[in-house]
Amino acid sequence: MKLVIGNQKSYLEKKEIDSFKQVIKDVNKDNFILCPSSIYLNEFSDLGLLLGCQNVSKYDKGATTGELSCEQIKSIGVNFCIVGHSERRQLFNETIEDTKLKVSKLLENCMTPILCVGETKEERDNLKTREIVLNEIEGALDGLNEELLNNIIIAYEPIWSIGTGVIPSNPEIEEITKAIKEFLYKKYNCNNKVLYGGSVSCKNIDELNLIDIVDGYLIGGASTKANELIEIIKKCE
Ligand code: PGA
Repeated sequence: MKLVIGNQKSYLEKKEIDSFKQVIKDVNKDNFILCPSSIYLNEFSDLGLLLGCQNVSKYDKGATTGELSCEQIKSIGVNFCIVGHSERRQLFNETIEDTKLKVSKLLENCMTPILCVGETKEERDNLKTREIVLNEIEGALDGLNEELLNNIIIAYEPIWSIGTGVIPSNPEIEEITKAIKEFLYKKYNCNNKVLYGGSVSCKNIDELNLIDIVDGYLIGGASTKANELIEIIKKCE
């Protein structure tokens, strides 16, 4: 069974959420985590789904206008949170230090960070994928309480693949996933789940599912289309 995490970004408006919910309500809940826009988290609380946020404040709860603190999201039953997504890094100047603070706060609050890492097209063309990805992981985790690091899910998301319909080959995904797992095991003695993300859809899921070492998928665009998402979840059971 592979884990499916839906990252709905800020695509859906309220009426689209209502119809999404109708279709998704009987989905198998064992291998699925939904990360809707935070304003809709409560809309899903009666479905018994595992829920995640797409971002969290690096600050404690308090005087931080516009932010969502770890304590707040935890208090409404959310146990997962995406951190370090490339859109946060590129559009909102989130640094690796910010990401580390967020990971640390989530772990302290017994929540599961979903840490995104991945290279740009240029870095890939310069054969830097492995170096970039492992540096990002190390930068976000070094110095944190090693006993808690096993609770992190890693999402390998090549930036050039997000929303483009272009994905790496299976051997490429397999190679980097293996490198990530070996690195985490050697450095922190951890056996983290490692997901693939970037243009996952029902068109490529059968092919991707052939990669045994990948533990699941972080899915953006396709997670906003309820029927496609259900089909993908079924194929991952
Ligand atoms: P995508 O996004 O599936 O639309 O490529 C993935 C992500 O950004 O997590």
